[in-house]
Amino acid sequence: MAHHWIATRPGGLDVFSFEEYVVPAPQHGEVTIAVRAAGMNPADAKHVASGAGDFPRGIGYEVAGVVSAVGPDTEIASGAVAVGDEVLAFRVSGGWATDVTVPAADVFAKPPSLSFGEAANLLLAGTTAAEMLHVTGVGPGDTILVHGASGAVGVSVLQQAALIGAQVVGTASPASHDVVARFGGVPVAYGPGLEQRVRELARTRRSTCRSRWSRTGGGSSRSLPPTVPVGTGSPTSPARCLPARPSARRCGPTSCSGRPPAGSWCPWRARTPWPTRSRPPSC
Ligand SMILES: NC(=O)c1ccc[n+]([C@@H]2O[C@H](COP(=O)([O-])OP(=O)(O)OC[C@H]3O[C@@H](n4cnc5c(N)ncnc54)[C@H](OP(=O)(O)O)[C@@H]3O)[C@@H](O)[C@H]2O)c1
Repeated sequence: MAHHWIATRPGGLDVFSFEEYVVPAPQHGEVTIAVRAAGMNPADAKHVASGAGDFPRGIGYEVAGVVSAVGPDTEIASGAVAVGDEVLAFRVSGGWATDVTVPAADVFAKPPSLSFGEAANLLLAGTTAAEMLHVTGVGPGDTILVHGASGAVGVSVLQQAALIGAQVVGTASPASHDVVARFGGVPVAYGPGLEQRVRELARTRRSTCRSRWSRTGGGSSRSLPPTVPVGTGSPTSPARCLPARPSARRCGPTSCSGRPPAGSWCPWRARTPWPTRSRPPSC
């Protein structure tokens, strides 16, 4: 008999319950995975606490394991699949389970170099980090500011930025500075005086610096410094204009000292129309 963790109702960990359940047989376009490891992310608890959606509900958005059944005429995202194949799956529903039936389109062959634990924790943080770097147009030679750099998403940003050839200034508590440094970032403490510290670091490293926010979603046990609002960046952090999507052209750094030219955008105001926010600092 299979087991899975469910949230019986909105709330904290006390509403999590480990229960028996019957795993549905995979239909066309589905596979069943014998789960060897399930990823754990802040969203698992946040989404239960928020009360959004139906309850009871499964918990867990990513898993790694071994395929135990395949629906008729079914391939996974990376190609052909057979019972016994080692796979990872993201984004699934109810991954905290001994067995789970999921859409085959969300299943990929597990790279042999990854353990099940590594594979199960790869994609939620990794794709978030990749998306952040992509939508903000980070390129070789850039210096970027990443908040929450010692966390799962932050470390993935550090690794992917290194592949791109971008340098990261990463906020973290002093106890986590070694984590940021280990992955090639320049650690900086958050809290009072952050803006000045970041400006100084950016000045000594690159002529431009853009702001990124990896600690998205709110709900942390610790509150943010008031000068760094939640979002894709901050009007008080060094900012630089980016081209209007999807053009590859960049506006010059001087654009940031005034209203950006028509068609350009700055990462920190991506969610807020220009007139409602104060003007960004010059680059
Ligand atoms: N929207 C999405 O698709 C998506 C996807 C993934 C994650 N997220 C969200 O992104 C956030 C980070 O996720 P995660 O998996 O990386 O979490 P995590 O591993 O818990 O990392 C969070 C990090 O935030 C740091 N931190 C705490 N207070 C801070 C502050 N005031 N300033 C700067 N850093 C601070 C902590 O580092 P220290 O120990 O150094 O303080 C911690 O390492 C969560 O809110 C999560 O829900 C959203």
